[in-house]
Amino acid sequence: MSFTTKILTPAQVGEGAELLRQGQCLAFPTETVYGLGANALDEEAVARIFSAKNRPADNPLIIHVAATSQLYQLVEPWDSQVQLLMDTYWPGPLTLVLPKTKAVPYIVTGGLESVGVRIPDHPLALELLRQADLPIAAPSANTSGRPSPTRANHVLEDMAGRIPAVLDGGPTGVGLESTVLDCTSRPFRILRPGAVTLEDLAKLVPVEQDAGQLTHDEAPRSPGMKYRHYSPQARVELVVGGRSLETISSLAQDYLGQGLRVAVMATSDRQQSFPGIIFLDMGSPGQFQEAAARIYDLLRQSDQAGCQVVLIEGVADQHLGRAIMNRLSKAAGTNVIFT
Ligand code: TXA
Ligand code: MG
Repeated sequence: MSFTTKILTPAQVGEGAELLRQGQCLAFPTETVYGLGANALDEEAVARIFSAKNRPADNPLIIHVAATSQLYQLVEPWDSQVQLLMDTYWPGPLTLVLPKTKAVPYIVTGGLESVGVRIPDHPLALELLRQADLPIAAPSANTSGRPSPTRANHVLEDMAGRIPAVLDGGPTGVGLESTVLDCTSRPFRILRPGAVTLEDLAKLVPVEQDAGQLTHDEAPRSPGMKYRHYSPQARVELVVGGRSLETISSLAQDYLGQGLRVAVMATSDRQQSFPGIIFLDMGSPGQFQEAAARIYDLLRQSDQAGCQVVLIEGVADQHLGRAIMNRLSKAAGTNVIFT
């Protein structure tokens, strides 16, 4: 179906809630990225999400609720360790994968017996969820494979004409999708790193990082991990290690010599090393939160600028840096250069 996509202001949140109650899709802000929501208990409504995004049917959706009381109908009773995580991190950027009840349609879970749930930490999202008074299934509001949207205009770049409306809450805070934690077995397992880090979780519960390695005969634990992700049009090369600055300089010269349009993405202290080259500024060195909030916008900017190659300097693979490196490596695919 084709729409004239409406931009709703925060004051029009009631109109957004009404669309959701009518079984339509709505893009809305959360503290992580913009989501594309629909009534999780309405299979037709959920099908609209998959078609607007061109999302593979086996990639499950996260259900968003305003309060834990809404979870009784969605997931089986949980234990004290799970409760501790809810008490500590909700509302917040932590998705808990738990055994689902019969009420949750398989279209939401991609056929799995488990479902991801979270309470988002964003006043407008919470207001929307309260007014709609429904559990809302919502993946990130990008076309499948593209960088997740952190601003309403990113949503429009991908979804204009494909959805009835986007609720504009300005730029999102965290900038990377929630941590996905599988709580269906022990130790708990991080399927996707995010702003609630391995280090944070390990203080509360036994937890390990999923290796994320795919073998031919083993289904991935988080189906979303097998797809190419977060990719701009350009070829992305991620450079890590002690000689990354020199390596990026020489790669940039090579590509420029081939007549290609090149951008460098790195922390602001690096800018002076790349005069005359499009520079995508990840923020102050060591400030993971700044980088996390910016990287999807920067990848989209590289498209706007018509870049053919984006050379990215990696960050330290710890705390929030793990989530940043996870998204950058996926954007780079196999083009990761160790120096
Ligand atoms: O921050 C976020 O999580 C955003 C906002 C909108 O809440 N949502 C988001 O959704 O990033 P999406 O669909 O783009 O990513 C959901 C991820 C996928 O990698 C999916 O495979 C995984 O969560 N996932 C969802 N349900 C799962 C389940 N039952 N078992 C394993 N992985 C699951
Ligand atoms: Mg996504």
